[in-house]
Amino acid sequence: MQKYLILYSSIDGHTKSICKKISGHINKDIVDVFPISEEFINLNEYKTIIIGASIRYGKYREELYKFIRMNKDLLDIKDNAFFSVNAVARKSNKDTPDTNPYLIKFLKNIDWIPKKVAVFAGKIEYPKYNFFDKYAIKFIMWITKGPIDTSKTYEFTDWEKVKTFAESLKL
Ligand SMILES: Cc1cc2nc3c(=O)[nH]c(=O)nc-3n(C[C@H](O)[C@H](O)[C@H](O)COP(=O)(O)O)c2cc1C
Repeated sequence: MQKYLILYSSIDGHTKSICKKISGHINKDIVDVFPISEEFINLNEYKTIIIGASIRYGKYREELYKFIRMNKDLLDIKDNAFFSVNAVARKSNKDTPDTNPYLIKFLKNIDWIPKKVAVFAGKIEYPKYNFFDKYAIKFIMWITKGPIDTSKTYEFTDWEKVKTFAESLKL
């Protein structure tokens, strides 16, 4: 059986939810889903490694870069994929690997060329955020003509696009 590993770098859990959805589309029985910071994973067990990471204030977290630095050679000999989750990708002119600024910058700055890439629009959960984040996000949304009602949650993810990506990863 060819096993898959999906690793996520997520703060509020939405990237993890996308990983779980991808796992379901591939086949839960042959997919493990773990946080990227988990140190006790035997990567050799897997034929395919998929990494998903979300953006916060313009950045991915250091744990993502650390994992790639430490495992680049192994990643290169496996089937692999990377996907980015961010709010900017809700815009139709910024929702592909060629047009999403965070994915473009990431690929430029790392010493790894993922074999497949994707970008998915994330989720804005105003009621969950602390005071600072809530109003910072509201301000960013206001500038970028997004939703600003802080009593609501907005999910921008196109789940059909997630499904298509998952299907493309099947052996
Ligand atoms: C504090 C905070 C900062 C964010 N900064 C950005 C940003 O700079 N650009 C962007 O496109 N999305 C930004 N987002 C949106 C997140 O990428 C989106 O909410 C995503 O679904 C979060 O995924 P996670 O739950 O896996 O962490 C931000 C969200 C929060 C809560």
